[in-house]
Amino acid sequence: EINQNTYLVNGELKTWTGDTANVYSSVSSTPEYKPTLLGKIPQLGKEEALEALDSACNAYGKGQGEWPRMKVKDRVACMEKFVEQMKTKREEVVKLLMWEIGKSLPDSEKEFDRTVDYIYDTIEEYKQLDRDSAKFEKHDGVNAHIRRGSLGVVLCLGPYNYPLNETFALLIPAIIMGNTVIFKPAKHGVLLMTPLLEAFQTSFPTGVVNIIYGRGRVVATPIMETGRVDVLALIGNSTSANALQESHPRQNRLRLVLGLEAKNPAIVLPDADLDLTIDECIAGTLSFNGQRCTALKVLYVHENIIEAFNKRFSDRVDALPFGNPWDQGVKLTPLPEPGKPAYIQELIDDALEKGASILNEKGGETTENYIFPAVLYPVNKDMRVFKEEQFGPVIPVLPFKDIQEPLHDMAESNYGQQVSVFGQNVKTLAPLIDTLVNLVCRVNLNSSCQRGPDVYPFTGRKDSAVGTLSVHDALRSFSIRTFVASKDN
Ligand code: G3H
Repeated sequence: EINQNTYLVNGELKTWTGDTANVYSSVSSTPEYKPTLLGKIPQLGKEEALEALDSACNAYGKGQGEWPRMKVKDRVACMEKFVEQMKTKREEVVKLLMWEIGKSLPDSEKEFDRTVDYIYDTIEEYKQLDRDSAKFEKHDGVNAHIRRGSLGVVLCLGPYNYPLNETFALLIPAIIMGNTVIFKPAKHGVLLMTPLLEAFQTSFPTGVVNIIYGRGRVVATPIMETGRVDVLALIGNSTSANALQESHPRQNRLRLVLGLEAKNPAIVLPDADLDLTIDECIAGTLSFNGQRCTALKVLYVHENIIEAFNKRFSDRVDALPFGNPWDQGVKLTPLPEPGKPAYIQELIDDALEKGASILNEKGGETTENYIFPAVLYPVNKDMRVFKEEQFGPVIPVLPFKDIQEPLHDMAESNYGQQVSVFGQNVKTLAPLIDTLVNLVCRVNLNSSCQRGPDVYPFTGRKDSAVGTLSVHDALRSFSIRTFVASKDN
């Protein structure tokens, strides 16, 4: 049990003696399910939240603080110090990823290692940005020395499904570009920040990084209401993002970097290679139980091959092993959100009432901490599972005759992150891609949707995202292009 009673404000690891919240795990090593108490985290109040804001504002000093004015090589040294310390915490963080959010051992290790790589890549990209800024541009007798300027004070909130990797995809570029941050971890995947608090404290100057805990409405909203936040950086749901954005009194001044919901479709054309398509659709729909914004959340399959697809796909789903995150070869693991099995059951019941069936034998089988993935067919547009981002183990399958059907749905959708297309005929694929690039931000050919490699742009259209994250783009999202102009004498 971890009794985490510290938070980081003003360069100090402060001890909290007030209210705490219990952190439970849905993972159990015994067959009879019992939520395990993993530890406690502070539930800070408004006063402490505003103290964190003051700390970040003072460190930024309206652009005159030590950090925003610091030389590139010195900021790089701070970040290198941080990542070196972080690497020594791998075992603890990986263990917490498994216990707190039920992520399998290989995926937890991958999340940690991928994040470390992301930090090193960010450092290299930042140095490159600096080398580029040494070049002058000249037009009509005016020389321009391009410099990326920082944006100010950033309020950063990360998601529970990639509490390390996605959170750091915001935090690291925000910090290295000279901004100062207040970071509040998500409700699940929160204890894993504990082993890293000291690394943050000792690597960066006072007030550059502030880490607080508590309920969003109690700590994040009052921070926004002051109007002193320059950037809201959030990966999570649009309800929280909108509420926080709206609580800022001068929204026109607020910059946003947001990664929100998605409903990425797969379009399986009649000439698709079925073996490959099924492998990719299994990974795309059910990696980490479908709890990924990049997951495939609806499958459109051409009517000529739907029967073969449904049979083979459902059998493969039923063969996926469920177990604890550390079990060898496990693919499905307990769900960290206590209410998730009941929510998925509601989606299934709604679809069944409106005419769908569960295709796989084990679909919908429940235990206290899990609901086995159900393949639902035929799904129609009145069903909740078609309209809502399920973010969990349930897979809607729709037949289509004409490619215009999925294209129409994509155009009407509120989301626009990615799509996967399965087919082999270049003459069909090429014109289709010409349309798809106008509907989403990443078209995956014969492969499932995913964010990585992290050097590629990660963004979305419509309600799916604001701003772009990739090693390259994130540095730009958290800074502004400024320049020093001089005239030839
Ligand atoms: O939730 C969205 C994550 O960025 C997914 O990342 O597609 O690389 O697993 P991934």
